[in-house]
Order: sequence, then structure tokens, then C-alpha cells
Amino acid sequence: MTLVAAVSLKGAPGVTTLAIALGAVWPGPVAPVVVELDPSGADLPARFALEPAPGLTTYAVAARQRGQAVGFDDHLQRLPGGLSVCCGLPWPAAARALASEVAAWIPAWRRGADPVVVDGGRLEADSPAQTSLLGAADTVVVVSSAERGHLALVAEALAQGGLPEDRLVVVVRDGRGARSETRALRCPVRGLPEDPRAAALLRGEAGSPRRLGGSAFLRAVRRLAEELAGRAAAPAPAVARERFATLAQGEVSA
Ligand SMILES: Nc1ncnc2c1ncn2[C@@H]1O[C@H](COP(=O)(O)OP(=O)(O)O)[C@@H](O)[C@H]1O
Ligand SMILES: [Mg+2]
Repeated sequence: MTLVAAVSLKGAPGVTTLAIALGAVWPGPVAPVVVELDPSGADLPARFALEPAPGLTTYAVAARQRGQAVGFDDHLQRLPGGLSVCCGLPWPAAARALASEVAAWIPAWRRGADPVVVDGGRLEADSPAQTSLLGAADTVVVVSSAERGHLALVAEALAQGGLPEDRLVVVVRDGRGARSETRALRCPVRGLPEDPRAAALLRGEAGSPRRLGGSAFLRAVRRLAEELAGRAAAPAPAVARERFATLAQGEVSA
């Protein structure tokens, strides 16, 4: 249906926050699934007091037993508000091994019945799961801080072919002070307002979700979700995907 990959290149600019915010406001009648694939470890179990399973571990076991990708239905938990999430494992070594284990099934996720938003974490030099994800996604959302050096890394990754130019959106958090740097990026760039209150709610802290509804942050996420859902309706040609899959083999530095 739709596969959106949210990733970063440096720091902790808000990939997990954006992934669940996108899931929460995704347009259309079919509710999305958010999959936590971050090889450096999952945050949703700790933030929302969930068990790591059912989640990506039980998914991996089921897919291994069947020898093919399976549906997410038996491997989901719900966040407050109802968003379905497939949690990863919090421990980095285990999360990395788990991500590698599911790498082969990722291309099938975009053909499933539900829109899938993947929290792919920060890109690593040699992650089979991230390579598979970047090759398969309808859109890759690179989240970056507005720091000049961080935006330069995005530009460099683009120039080296380490990001799929034809399926890319760069989301810059609090980018008001970095207009010339963001203009220089040769791809669509969207801004995401700084919003500590929304971020705290999306970290599982107590607060009123009603306040979140009217925030500039959520309006920006809604616009982005609509754009991403629309992009999926016009997929990139298969040949471009293949070209990227070749280029992506280990070329993106952390
Ligand atoms: N738009 C935002 N405004 C304010 N704080 C944010 C925003 N997005 C994320 N944060 C906060 O930044 C920290 C890192 O966010 P997180 O989503 O975990 O980043 P990542 O997944 O890239 O490591 C968290 O404390 C989160 O609440
Ligand atoms: Mg994260």
C-alpha cells in the first residue's frame, strides 16, 4: 500500500517523534502501522510502558517460520489514542540483529494492506535493514536538525547517491535560522516547528492531547502526512529503485 521510511543522519533530531506523529494523523480510511526498526534500539517500549513483545521479534519468528513476509496484525500493540505500533527491542545489539533478520521482508511491507511508517533510526554505514528500507520505501523522510553541519551531511549524502533523490523529503526541525542551507538542498524540504509540549506527549508523558490538535507542530505533520500519502499514489519507476538499491550498499556514513 504505502511504505514511508523516517531516518536521520546525525544526532537525535526527532525521527521517532515524527514517525508516531505521522501515524497518528495519517489521512484516509485505513489506519497505518508504525514499525520500530531503529538498529540502535527501540524507544517506544520505555516511553509508553509497553513490553517489547508482541512486536518485531514475534514478527521475525513468524516470518522465519513461514519463509515469507507476514501481516503485522499479531505483532502490534496500541499507543494511547489507538495508534498501532510494532515495537523493536531496546537493547542495541539485539535491535541490530533483529533489524538484519527482517531486512529481507521489508520490500513486502509496501505491498501489504496497511500504510506502514517505519522508524528506521539513524543511518549506519552497514545496515542491511536500512539499505533494504531505503530501497523499498515510497518516500524516505530524512529528519535533520537545522545545524549547518547536519544539513551539510544531508547534502553530501544526496550528492554521493546515498539517499534516493527521487523519493526523498527532508524535514528540518526548527529550520528558521537555516533558510539558505535548506534552499541549497536539491530536494523537497519541509519544516517542523519546535514544540516541547507536543514532543512530551509523543514521548508518552502526561498532558492534554486536545492541546496538541491545534498546534503548529501537528498542522505541519498533517500537511506532511497528506503529501506522503499522495506521493505513494504515484510510485517511482522500478528502474530508479534498482539503481538506488545498488548505490545504497553501505555508502551512507553515520
Ligand atoms: N519538534 C520537536 N520539538 C521539541 N522537541 C522535540 C521535537 N521532536 C522531538 N523532540 C524531542 O527530541 C528528543 C529526541 O526525539 P526522538 O524522536 O527520540 O529523536 P530520534 O528518534 O531522532 O532519536 C526527544 O526528547 C523528543 O521529545
Ligand atoms: Mg528514535
